[in-house]
Amino acid sequence: MTDATPRAKLLGLPGSLRRNSNSLAVLQGLRDALPAGIGMEIRDLRLPLYDQDLDTPDGPAEVQALRQAIADADGVVIVTPEYNYGMPGVLKNALDWASRPYGKSALIGKPVLVISNSPAFTGGVRAHQQVNDTLLAVSAKLVGGAQVVIGMVGEKVKEGKLADEAVLKFALGAVDKLVAAGGK
Ligand SMILES: Cc1cc2nc3c(=O)[nH]c(=O)nc-3n(C[C@H](O)[C@H](O)[C@H](O)COP(=O)(O)O)c2cc1C
Repeated sequence: MTDATPRAKLLGLPGSLRRNSNSLAVLQGLRDALPAGIGMEIRDLRLPLYDQDLDTPDGPAEVQALRQAIADADGVVIVTPEYNYGMPGVLKNALDWASRPYGKSALIGKPVLVISNSPAFTGGVRAHQQVNDTLLAVSAKLVGGAQVVIGMVGEKVKEGKLADEAVLKFALGAVDKLVAAGGK
């Protein structure tokens, strides 16, 4: 390992596809604030709709790439907004793809940190709960403890990045736990 080799490779998944997404901004802010030795690749979740007929060993290339990225990561950070009191369909769709093949999902035993956010003071906490439930169904290794729930996120994002020092510090504490859960 050289000095430039990250000690831990994280994968960041935003639950929103829009260009100016706060969820993406949270991940970008976190990525830039990670301590030396920890890196994060951010991938968008623009995938075909889950279709079991397409879920074959030579299925959609984007899905294979997502599964491989999860397998290669030491830990996954999911940042979700809340849509209609739940997780966005984009994220559920991606988790359904990632949950397969049954019994061989890259998410099994994978350390995952969930962060929710919203322009409302509620911080997307209902979406957070749904993501946790889905990850439990897949036997991912959820980072427990105090939930990272970011309310009034619009006030905490500057130039496309989470910029609130207190929230960043709190979220980085959870990332530490994620890295430790991956044995790093
Ligand atoms: C279809 C839809 C439903 C929404 N429902 C909720 C909701 O239930 N709770 C909430 O806090 N915000 C809700 N919002 C507002 C989103 O939190 C807000 O648009 C947020 O910025 C989306 O996340 P993003 O910035 O990562 O794209 C909703 C937005 C949309 C488009």
